[in-house]
Amino acid sequence: MEIVTEVLVIGSGIGGLYTAAQISKYAEVTLVTKKEKSESSTNYAQGGIASVLDSRDSFDNHINDTLIAGAGLCHKDIVEMIVKEGPAHIKELINLGARFTLSDSSNLDLVREGGHSFPRIVHAKDLTGKEVERTLIEYISAQKNVAVLENHLAIDLLTEHNLTNLKDSPSENLHCWGAYVLDINGERVIKIKAKATVIATGGMGQVYLHTTNPGIATGDGVAMAYRAGARLSNLEFIQFHPTSLYNSGAHSIREQAFLISEAVRGFGGILRNQTGERFMTKYDSRLELAPRDIVARAIDSELKISGEDFVYLDITHKSSSEIKDHFPNIYERCLKEGIDATTAFIPVVPAAHYICGGIIVDSFSRTSINGLYATGEVSMTGVHGANRLASNSLLEALVFASRAAQGISEQIKENSTVLPDIPDWDETNVISPDEKIMISHGERELKQLMSDYVGIVRSNLRLSRAARRIKTLNLEVEEIYKKTKVFAALLELRNLVTSAYLIVKCATLRKESRGLHYSLDYPELNKAGKIKDTIIQNKYQKS
Ligand code: FAD
Ligand code: SIN
Repeated sequence: MEIVTEVLVIGSGIGGLYTAAQISKYAEVTLVTKKEKSESSTNYAQGGIASVLDSRDSFDNHINDTLIAGAGLCHKDIVEMIVKEGPAHIKELINLGARFTLSDSSNLDLVREGGHSFPRIVHAKDLTGKEVERTLIEYISAQKNVAVLENHLAIDLLTEHNLTNLKDSPSENLHCWGAYVLDINGERVIKIKAKATVIATGGMGQVYLHTTNPGIATGDGVAMAYRAGARLSNLEFIQFHPTSLYNSGAHSIREQAFLISEAVRGFGGILRNQTGERFMTKYDSRLELAPRDIVARAIDSELKISGEDFVYLDITHKSSSEIKDHFPNIYERCLKEGIDATTAFIPVVPAAHYICGGIIVDSFSRTSINGLYATGEVSMTGVHGANRLASNSLLEALVFASRAAQGISEQIKENSTVLPDIPDWDETNVISPDEKIMISHGERELKQLMSDYVGIVRSNLRLSRAARRIKTLNLEVEEIYKKTKVFAALLELRNLVTSAYLIVKCATLRKESRGLHYSLDYPELNKAGKIKDTIIQNKYQKS
């Protein structure tokens, strides 16, 4: 089956939905998403969206805070751009119907999070992402020129590689004309051809055992873009959120750790080890509100010293009614686990949360492949550098989604894109899946090794061990992939393995410790020479 559309958007988090919303003003969009449309990291975002909306705050403050967190690797011009363009998009979300928390009858309630020098986080209690998803899904559903296909999983991009033998394909001046997509319920692969394709598939937290990311975060977009030959960058910078709720029970394979928002520390939460000591005093003068990399490493160090499984977050000194009012979702969830956060400490551990690197894009979200755009967490815009400042992700997604829509509008106006004939998905010689146990076993093994060897603290030895095991897993998964009728868990494992390979590859290339990447072999910043992004690209060699 073939669908031809003007713009294909892959993903229904803030990146995909806001891009589709903007494009729907001038073109027809087909949006595919691999589960139900609200399932995304966006839907679980708690803290909020950082933006300068108070006259006592300033763009310069927000820019500086972002640059400090980014540890020398942010692209300053891009940081300036998102900070300055941000407020207009908050207003647009409100115009579209978003109901953010107010401090009085007309002013937004702006709160503070780690690394921010001023309270500037717009939020909807502690359920900001849900409100953003609700608003955008309602808007998109009302647009006649947007078709949303749920349970449709993009497998690979349509490029020159589909026209010629891989080995004879060019590696430069590539074009993207859409994607092969698995219709999960129909158990068939369809071909969606488009003049422009937007990857908005989110992050890859599921490559680790403990992650705040939902099960959809399997690195599909980065893996697809890598296979197609796009330029990628900075995948070594995995952000571990300092405070996810500790869970001592059995873990399912796609478990999502419950986040205890950074806003709880912004509200006055204190981190204590199991002896009750406020340990951040030993690590940073900004205490609990130091940037995330510092707080997560401090917790990791406390756990290694004590041999304990978790530390505590203490908000028992705050008023009970304020806790319930500010954090109703967190309060209820803790209560379900038998913890009354108004009277008891909350047990917390760091968990993989966000990938700062991704597919390299320019200021209009254009990747290195013609006709291919990327928005949201999957992209590497230059904003986050070596460590993302809290609540800058949703902001970045809004600004770059809107800019993608501008870039695509220019491309469509030029009217120079010709869609070639692309072969249908080849299902000859594939047998039906019978060994699904190999898929879940492979995924568990991958998560365990990434958590053990490529976590908060890395070393040459750990990285080389991880690389060896990932290579073997890759061979096994490719073997199954080549002879099996495709299904979601297999495609996702394939993408997880590729994502793990890319994280390790970038981590191995960085011979220093910077921001979120800490190596025992290179514990210092490399102060000599130019500070560089790590850049990788899959180049097909002509043979
Ligand atoms: P997502 O929202 O993850 O959406 C990705 C979409 O792509 C999903 O619909 C998914 O199903 C779909 N998809 C994936 N692969 C495929 C495929 N192969 N085919 C089809 N569809 C596919 N950031 C902030 O700025 N502020 C916060 O307060 C905040 N809190 C957070 C709390 C949690 C628990 C988490 C996990 C993250 C938080 N973040 C926060 C980070 C932020 O939420 C994410 O970076 C952001 O929402 C990512 O948006 P996105 O659109 O890029 O991806
Ligand atoms: C949080 O609420 O702590 C998450 C904020 C973020 O990831 O930016």
